[in-house]
Amino acid sequence: MPLFNVYPLYDVTPVSGKGVYVYDKNGTEYLDLYGGHAVISIGHAHPKYVEAISCQVSELGFYSNAIQNPLQVQLADKLEALSGCKDYELFLCNSGAEANENALKLASFKTGNSRVLAFKNGFHGRTSAAVAATDNPGIVAPINAQQEVTFLELDDIAGVKAELEKGDVCAVIVEFIQGVGGLDQGSAKFFNEVDKLCKANNTFFIADEVQSGYGRSGKFFAFQHYNVTPDIISIAKGMGNGFPMGGILIHPSIEAKFGMLGTTFGGNHLACAAGLSVLEVIEDQKLIDNVQVMSEYFIKIAKTIPQIKNIKGKGLMLGLEFDFEVGDLRKRLIYENHIFTGGASNKKLLRILPPLTVRKEHINMFFEALIEVLPEVESAEELQAQKI
Ligand SMILES: Cc1ncc(COP(=O)(O)O)c(C=O)c1O
Repeated sequence: MPLFNVYPLYDVTPVSGKGVYVYDKNGTEYLDLYGGHAVISIGHAHPKYVEAISCQVSELGFYSNAIQNPLQVQLADKLEALSGCKDYELFLCNSGAEANENALKLASFKTGNSRVLAFKNGFHGRTSAAVAATDNPGIVAPINAQQEVTFLELDDIAGVKAELEKGDVCAVIVEFIQGVGGLDQGSAKFFNEVDKLCKANNTFFIADEVQSGYGRSGKFFAFQHYNVTPDIISIAKGMGNGFPMGGILIHPSIEAKFGMLGTTFGGNHLACAAGLSVLEVIEDQKLIDNVQVMSEYFIKIAKTIPQIKNIKGKGLMLGLEFDFEVGDLRKRLIYENHIFTGGASNKKLLRILPPLTVRKEHINMFFEALIEVLPEVESAEELQAQKI
């Protein structure tokens, strides 16, 4: 049976990983500055993670959400301690889209409204309400398009105010650092105002931390760079270091009711073991401190390279903007220098999303390779432009 052909693929076949490296079937080593799309938080095949998952699966991999599962409670307690999100409650699911879907659903249940405010260039996943709140008509099917979503520019405070005062909005959903869209961020003033406006207008403020959470921004959550209190915080990617899991942190003012949300697989024993070990490693190895130090180091070097026109993002969720499209650059970094990087909807942006364990030597390797390939990529671009 052929695979449904929805992914354009690089011709690389990783078969193993260790720390910030992956290895293909021929044993070639690749430096992973992409983290499998911001997923690898504590590094590939971290020994504590491998041990936690192996031990758990040999005991009990799964049972339904109809029984007591103390691992869920341990995970919730550890998450509360590390994130500083005191008194929030946790609902566990399986992916980022599902987290946002549940967040939006909860907002709609509780406010009685159905319209959503989302932002230009935002990405929230591919399920029903999540994809409708994603600013990419190419991935919104007619069945999703019936959702009521209004898109505004980041920093459009007057627009948010006008929409919320209409009284029919259940949620404002935002990425504090846009991922897929290309690392754009609203201003502190904007986020503070949106927070206040939501509270004044019976609207839930949803922080989509699927990509920016779990230390990637240099704080546990990216919204913590601002003085805001989201009603719901959605999480996924870094949470399981590759084990598929997601969740929402729900403000204590929002009351649960039996049956309101639910899932078969979410919060299963194996996922909790994976998630717990991730949090333990983040804490033990002081990875959030490492993110801050490595981010500063990375940005300092990036600033010395004249071809880099703009450095975007925070922590280890960074984007390097050039004045040419980076598709060819990414290919050369992979095939010639064996370094994975990421792209964005902004075609001139190279995304850097390494495991949070990355060290200075890896950053040096990246910049050495970049400096090596840049002139050739640029002259190819010029040649192309002349042909046009
Ligand atoms: C900010 C954000 N939200 C939601 C999602 C969707 O997550 P998933 O692919 O796990 O459904 C993504 C995925 O890239 C994301 O970056």
